[in-house]
Amino acid sequence: MQGKESNTIFDVFDQESPIATEMRRLYSNLQHINGNVKKRAYLVTSANRGEGKSTVASHLALTIGRFRNKKSLIVDADLRRPRLHQIFNVPREPGLLECLNGEIDPLDAVKDTGIKNLKVIPAGGAVHSPAHLFEGDIMSGIFEKLKFYYDFVIVDSAPVIPVSDPMLISSVVDGVIMVLLAGMTPKNVAIRARDILLDANANLLGVVVNNASEVLPYYYDYGYYGYTEGEEE
Ligand SMILES: Nc1ncnc2c1ncn2[C@@H]1O[C@H](COP(=O)(O)OP(=O)(O)OP(=O)(O)O)[C@@H](O)[C@H]1O
Ligand SMILES: [Mg+2]
Repeated sequence: MQGKESNTIFDVFDQESPIATEMRRLYSNLQHINGNVKKRAYLVTSANRGEGKSTVASHLALTIGRFRNKKSLIVDADLRRPRLHQIFNVPREPGLLECLNGEIDPLDAVKDTGIKNLKVIPAGGAVHSPAHLFEGDIMSGIFEKLKFYYDFVIVDSAPVIPVSDPMLISSVVDGVIMVLLAGMTPKNVAIRARDILLDANANLLGVVVNNASEVLPYYYDYGYYGYTEGEEE
């Protein structure tokens, strides 16, 4: 993994890397959580900016789409700091904004990623204050439709503490994954973010510890988790 903004995920994705291994575990855990539910949408968020939401969301989506043979879709719902169009090297528009505005059908915002089973809906055009767009029926209709056509929908979002968008989105997905940045996200801040999500009745599934600097030795010590590759589905 590298931190350069210009790199697409196809440049940086390495299925032998610790993050790819973690994503396979995460996917496996998600399978166990909602075992008999066929169609799911998950929101990836974090307390603050820059903790790795887009990185985790795109790696998870790529893992599901590439190796698991599910019809999967990743949606850029971070209309403030959109990244997925760069990460997947697709046009930014039309995207979720135009769907939320009612200008286009969500299926018309779907773009190919080059991976057969993984599509992307980018953020769309620039918008100053998007929070109100996430209120109301249009958004729930969009996600209902997307879940009808896709097995897995992964939603990348803005952070929880500064803005209300992820809290609103949490009501239309099946579960929320919170990213923490190892050694950076303070405990009280993480707890505050968790409480905001729980107060919004979000189905908070768990936490992914993103280790951007890859400094913690236990990150590489698979024995620490008590898992083996054999546990994957
Ligand atoms: N595990 C990782 N290894 C290497 N670089 C990483 C890792 N996680 C994040 N980064 C880098 O850190 C920066 C921020 O990550 P990312 O964009 O995923 O965070 P974010 O939470 O989505 O940020 P924002 O709040 O701006 O949307 C990016 O340049 C990304 O490439
Ligand atoms: Mg992001």
